[in-house]
Amino acid sequence: MRAIVVNEFGGPEVLRLDEIATPRPAEEEVTIDVEAAAVGLIDVLFRRDGLRGVLSLPFVPGIEVAGRVREIGEGVAGLKVGEPVVTLSNPSTAGYAEVAAVPASLVVPLDATGEDSVAGRVSAAAAVGNVPNLVTALAVLEDAARMRPGDDVLVLGASGGLGGVFAGVAHALRAASVTGVVSRASRIPEAQARGFDDVVTVDQLTGLDSRFHVVVDPVGGAARSAALALLRPLGRMAVVGNASDEGQVVVGTNDLWIGNTGIIGLNIAGLLSAEPERAATLASRALNLLHHSDVAQPVETLPLDHATEAHRRLESRSVHGRLALTP
Ligand SMILES: NC(=O)c1ccc[n+]([C@@H]2O[C@H](COP(=O)([O-])OP(=O)(O)OC[C@H]3O[C@@H](n4cnc5c(N)ncnc54)[C@H](OP(=O)(O)O)[C@@H]3O)[C@@H](O)[C@H]2O)c1
Repeated sequence: MRAIVVNEFGGPEVLRLDEIATPRPAEEEVTIDVEAAAVGLIDVLFRRDGLRGVLSLPFVPGIEVAGRVREIGEGVAGLKVGEPVVTLSNPSTAGYAEVAAVPASLVVPLDATGEDSVAGRVSAAAAVGNVPNLVTALAVLEDAARMRPGDDVLVLGASGGLGGVFAGVAHALRAASVTGVVSRASRIPEAQARGFDDVVTVDQLTGLDSRFHVVVDPVGGAARSAALALLRPLGRMAVVGNASDEGQVVVGTNDLWIGNTGIIGLNIAGLLSAEPERAATLASRALNLLHHSDVAQPVETLPLDHATEAHRRLESRSVHGRLALTP
């Protein structure tokens, strides 16, 4: 089968189209005929250095796919060959390929049941561009940050693939307000289009009068430091990424005590790997949102052999919404 293979760490040019053996499902796995593979900043980090040793060479990037079930491994129940599915985030998905092997616990049927059904209404690209990030946003807001109806929410990286999804999800969870933060003024219209009530730049954070019950941070660095000062008493920051690639922001536990604030991290692939029983409920709620609320993000598709271009665009921060590769 055709796949994008990384044989050496480096720039976007190390993403090479190759012919490799088609995977077969191991126990508790299925294989999927891939129709769309999501491209996210995490793929860039894996490509640069294997995320400091998490992945070893060679590997096929891509942690989320949508398509049709091709083959079912031992011990898998509840999935049918040929049915349309999307996967949740999984670092070993190897999604930039014609066929991907995936743990069955992370595979979500798209023609499941009744009113949650989105088959025929959501393309593979829309499913893979939305469902995994909706699952992450739900887990971040409800399970990690314990957001409640009436809360004021601040989201960094508001024009990004993950950050942008929080506007719709926080509104669906009945936030009183959702403010987005972008890196520069030219990105404000992009974030406004994603549904934020208000959009400010990172530079404006220090002058902001508003205070927030919940801050969501996929960016890190200077933006994280500025946003921490904007938490209300008993406010919670959810740390969900480090898109700025700046170093660690160090916070003393005594500062949390004196300041009446909390910080919690969430990495969805790690959480679902440690507690796979969370996946089905989160996925069902994500599909419900996609079906009934105005949460869908724009997803642009590129052919599989344009993986290098996809990474270049992501790194130059010129993507609107999400990118997906189609084999
Ligand atoms: N926790 C999880 O489970 C999970 C799931 C998915 C992704 N992630 C992480 O979330 C982060 C974003 O991923 P993504 O795929 O959404 O990437 P993306 O689409 O490239 O978005 C990155 C965002 O970060 C912003 N940004 C980058 N550098 C910045 C800086 N110095 N100051 C302010 N804003 C800056 C960009 O702002 P502009 O557009 O304004 O330039 C953009 O909005 C990554 O670290 C990824 O690993 C985590």
